Amino acid sequence: MRIVPAVNSVPVILADRSYEIVIQSGILKNIGDVLQEVGCSSRVAIVTNPIVRKLYGREVHRALTQAGFSPFFIMIPDGEQAKTMKWLDKILDALVTQRIERKDVVLALGGGVTGDVAGFAASSFLRGIPFVQVPTTLVAQVDSSVGGKTGVNHKQGKNLIGAFYQPQVVVVDPLVLKTLPSRQWMAGLAEVIKYGMIADEDFFDFLEQHVDGLQNQSGDVIPHILRRCCEIKAEVVASDERESGRRRILNYGHTVGHALEAFGHYRKWIHGEAVGLGMIQEASMAHYLGMCSKEVVARQDDLIKRVGLPTALPAKMEFLDLWNAMQHDKKVINGDIHCVLPTRIGEVQLVPLVRETIRKWFSHQHASSAKFAKVVGKSPSRPAKKK
Ligand SMILES: NC(=O)c1ccc[n+]([C@@H]2O[C@H](COP(=O)([O-])OP(=O)(O)OC[C@H]3O[C@@H](n4cnc5c(N)ncnc54)[C@H](O)[C@@H]3O)[C@@H](O)[C@H]2O)c1
Ligand SMILES: [Zn+2]
Repeated sequence: MRIVPAVNSVPVILADRSYEIVIQSGILKNIGDVLQEVGCSSRVAIVTNPIVRKLYGREVHRALTQAGFSPFFIMIPDGEQAKTMKWLDKILDALVTQRIERKDVVLALGGGVTGDVAGFAASSFLRGIPFVQVPTTLVAQVDSSVGGKTGVNHKQGKNLIGAFYQPQVVVVDPLVLKTLPSRQWMAGLAEVIKYGMIADEDFFDFLEQHVDGLQNQSGDVIPHILRRCCEIKAEVVASDERESGRRRILNYGHTVGHALEAFGHYRKWIHGEAVGLGMIQEASMAHYLGMCSKEVVARQDDLIKRVGLPTALPAKMEFLDLWNAMQHDKKVINGDIHCVLPTRIGEVQLVPLVRETIRKWFSHQHASSAKFAKVVGKSPSRPAKKK
């Protein structure tokens, strides 16, 4: 039985791959009970990095041991460098060495990097063994731990190698966010804002009205944002598990965002920051194409700015830098870029864009930005040529 009935839980309905996202403060202490309820077996390989292990490793290990499990750690390094074939190989080596069997479990304890690489290891080891997600960053709690996308990067592009592989359960403990560096917290807010933009205007209003709470990581706003983001992600994933249609709306901000990450050599911006910048650029594109009003752009950009995310692109960035970086994205089909663009707050559309359209938008936007001190964050206030 894979569904755990829990008060604070959100179901992800996917036929025989259905599971629950359990959201509860302090749930880490009872993680053994959660694993028992979903029918996990005796051995648990905890994949984590040194930072997260130091903070939460002992607590998780103890809770699992107390519930009768035999946990052990598989360590990967901190940061995006762990999402590679090299570290996938090392995880698989450890699973072989530990004689892990089909009924045993891989548990990812960490952010999106850990969840992505550990999930891919679980999907391929013995053609798939049970997998549990214990996300510890905001990005991971509202996004990467839900929906079954797992994988590693290739030197030619992000997430090029991977599998759809759903976890048995996602265990979200909001208390772990207290130790998250503020830069990581803010990066997660970009994904949170994305949910408002793609699917829920009321939620977007809520975010606008609680900017202070978002900045201070207030206990009043965190439960609501975690739950609402997980609900939206669960609903979208349930309607299109393998991203043949509707699920693509989750890529809003990511076409330009992934290109920026590559352009910045994965060092200049962290994922969520790049997504925030990507949303600013993609909304500007939508407005340029006449798909949305300037108010939509202004409200979005203002919220991104108010929560403290970066809004400025490097002044030296040229069209070809952006275009070339975009070419490695999975959303390129026959040379066209398939981009998710907003039509209003709470609604987006998938639009194929040819090179010339993007080039024209880029020069138009660049010319306007130059007038406004090359600060993209100031673009909402500039007069728009199109409605
Ligand atoms: N699979 C998906 O659907 C999906 C969706 C979104 C993002 N992603 C991927 O997720 C990755 C980004 O994830 P991320 O933003 O969580 O980055 P991350 O996993 O690198 O974690 C960010 C940093 O926070 C640290 N950390 C984690 N939890 C902590 C805690 N509670 N307290 C203190 N420090 C903590 C980590 O050690 C790391 O240094 C990218 O590789 C991205 O491609 C995947
Ligand atoms: Zn993302």
